[in-house]
Amino acid sequence: VQHAERPGAVPTAPDEAAPQAGAGTGDWRDDELAAAWTSGDRLEELLTLPRRMTADLLAHADPEVRRILDVGSGPGAFLAAALARQPQAVGIWTDVSGAMCAIAQSRLAAVGERVTFRLADAADVAEVAAPGSLDAVLTSRMTHHLDAEGLATFYADAAGLLGPGGWIANIDHVELGEPWAGRLATARLDLIPPNPSPHRHDRPHPTLDDHLHALQRLDDVEVAVPWRAYATVLVLARRR
Ligand SMILES: C[S@@+](CC[C@H](N)C(=O)[O-])C[C@H]1O[C@@H](n2cnc3c(N)ncnc32)[C@H](O)[C@@H]1O
Repeated sequence: VQHAERPGAVPTAPDEAAPQAGAGTGDWRDDELAAAWTSGDRLEELLTLPRRMTADLLAHADPEVRRILDVGSGPGAFLAAALARQPQAVGIWTDVSGAMCAIAQSRLAAVGERVTFRLADAADVAEVAAPGSLDAVLTSRMTHHLDAEGLATFYADAAGLLGPGGWIANIDHVELGEPWAGRLATARLDLIPPNPSPHRHDRPHPTLDDHLHALQRLDDVEVAVPWRAYATVLVLARRR
């Protein structure tokens, strides 16, 4: 099935939401789509702030952040921002796409010695590292591919990888509902043109409430939403 987030509505994330033949989630593995989406990504500037906010937060964390996982990392910019701020930390890059892995290996060359690259589906994130062995799990623009139940499972699995005081940071697009979804999507086009190589979405994005409810179902987790712009949010959670 190919459709935008809300059929008939102006999409909340016009860089990514328009339907395109053959551009489904699995097609992230396609070399051409991965390269075209990456070079057409117009959100990099907007995302500089939430990535930097997360990196600074982790830099001030106690206990010190030493092991960082990025899930659905794609070209790797979120992981790169965190590692740049944490010279002593190591990173695990994961993504379902080998095509994205090649792009990330090139883009992360400056910190490459500190990064392990692993192809993995987010559904299998629990197997990427030992339980309790990580200090932070990052993810960006990936969880909108999940339904609400998949999102809850992802957060629970990610939390299981964290030691006490560990962090989850998720930058993603959320479903807003009308009339604000259309208004903000239209207004955003003035600042941020659409990605000329969008990818397909098979269902509406989870709402911010879906994110918050999923995290609140976990024991001993503190949650905050310290940044949002248009329909994109930074959701943070910290294990006590
Ligand atoms: C829109 S890109 C975002 C890339 C990067 N996180 C960023 O924000 O720049 C989505 C990425 O998620 C990956 N992805 C999509 N579904 C996935 C899944 N189920 N498991 C792991 N990665 C997935 C894609 O391969 C792609 O690299």
